[in-house]
Order: sequence, then structure tokens, then C-alpha cells
Amino acid sequence: MFPPTWALPKNPLHNRVPPGEGLKSLFSGEGTAQGQFTVRKEVLFSRSLIEQRVRELGARISKDYEGREPIVVGILNGAVFFLADLVRAIRVPTRIDFVRAASYGSGMSSSGTVKLTKDVELSVEKQPVILVEDIVDTGLTLQRIIELMERKGPESIRVCALIDKTERREVPIRPDYCGFSIESGFVVGYGLDFNEQYRHLPDIYTLKEIDTVHSTRGKPRV
Ligand code: IMP
Repeated sequence: MFPPTWALPKNPLHNRVPPGEGLKSLFSGEGTAQGQFTVRKEVLFSRSLIEQRVRELGARISKDYEGREPIVVGILNGAVFFLADLVRAIRVPTRIDFVRAASYGSGMSSSGTVKLTKDVELSVEKQPVILVEDIVDTGLTLQRIIELMERKGPESIRVCALIDKTERREVPIRPDYCGFSIESGFVVGYGLDFNEQYRHLPDIYTLKEIDTVHSTRGKPRV
């Protein structure tokens, strides 16, 4: 399981750049290659707060799209739970579809090459589209997905992100609808993962304070 995929050199799967110095140090210290790691997580946004924000976002979207039927496009896998809750909080009819993106970077930084490994199946031509993203970090993934979506000739594209993480933004993108805004940190839960772990958690946590224990045995204690 460790080190996480975003920390491996030439990770072809996703743009997983460790944003926290604590996380970075996990892979730079001596002995970490064989070490045992302790990851601590702290609740950042509770399930009740998430529920409240999703209700608020649903109400705003319902108002903005009154009389229309937007296609809500989730970006897999992270947006799954958020999208499922969001469409049930939206009071206008919606159709849903998904895309999946793969980013090709050099491990510690994204090259900005983002490809769709799954495209939408509905026709979005002349339709209002709402892209649903779990978290916007550098913004490169979203920028590329918007570009690809624009080629399909939708009536409009708006972005609804669960979390807008601003510190490392590389392109001038801001979600039209945003659940929470944070500056930095690595967050998990409610669809967000760390090496495919923690997605199922109902609350959102910050991962922090990773201690290296010089041992070759055992699993990370979380
Ligand atoms: P971007 O292209 O740098 O904006 O990357 C966005 C993608 O990186 C998200 O869809 C997530 O999959 C992943 N990501 C960025 N920050 C985090 C985080 O704090 N937790 C979990 N995934 C993250």
C-alpha cells in the first residue's frame, strides 16, 4: 500500500502530488523505504456539516437552473458520493453521467497531460452541463476536462467542487459552486482517497503527522 501512488516516480495513474511538507518528508528521510508509517487523521468537515453544505449547494443550483434539466457529470472516482448526495438535493430534474481522467506526471509534479479514460455516454450537445469534482488542487485536471467537454458543444458548463484547495493552483480556475475552501493539506473521506484508502469514510479528514518507525513489519496504523 505504501508509499502512496502519487509519490512514486513516473506514476502513470494520477496526478497525486503530496501537498503537505509532512507527507513529503515521508519519502525523503533515511530508512523510509523500509519504514512503518503512522498516519494520523483529524476530522476537518463532519458528516453533518457536509450534509448541510450539500443541501445549500443543491438549493443554489436548483434556483440557477429553474426550468432546465442539467446533465450532472461526475469525475470518477472521488466525486461519486458527493454527486449522489448533490443530485438528490437539487430540485430540478437532472441526468447523470461520469468521466474518468488519468494524469501523467513525474510523481512530484504534474506534467499537465490529462487524458480521459472514460468519456460521457449521454450527448451533452446544447445541454447545460454541471461538472462535479471532488477537489480542485492545481486545477489542471479540471481545465483539461472542461476543454474536452467544450468540444462537444454543450449549452454551458459550470463546475461544482466539493473542496477548492487554493494554494497550489496553476491555472486560473475557480469552481462556480463550492462546498468548502481550504488553502492546503491532504484530505480524505467522503470519496476522497489516499492510495485508494478512506473513500468510504462519511466525514472528511486531514491526514497529518506521519511518523516513521524504523521497522519492516506491520501495516500503517490509522
Ligand atoms: P489537480 O489536477 O491538481 O487539480 O488534481 C485534482 C485531483 O487530485 C483530484 O480530483 C484528486 O483526485 C486529487 N487530489 C488533490 N488533492 C487531494 C487531496 O487532498 N485528497 C485527495 N485527493 C486529492
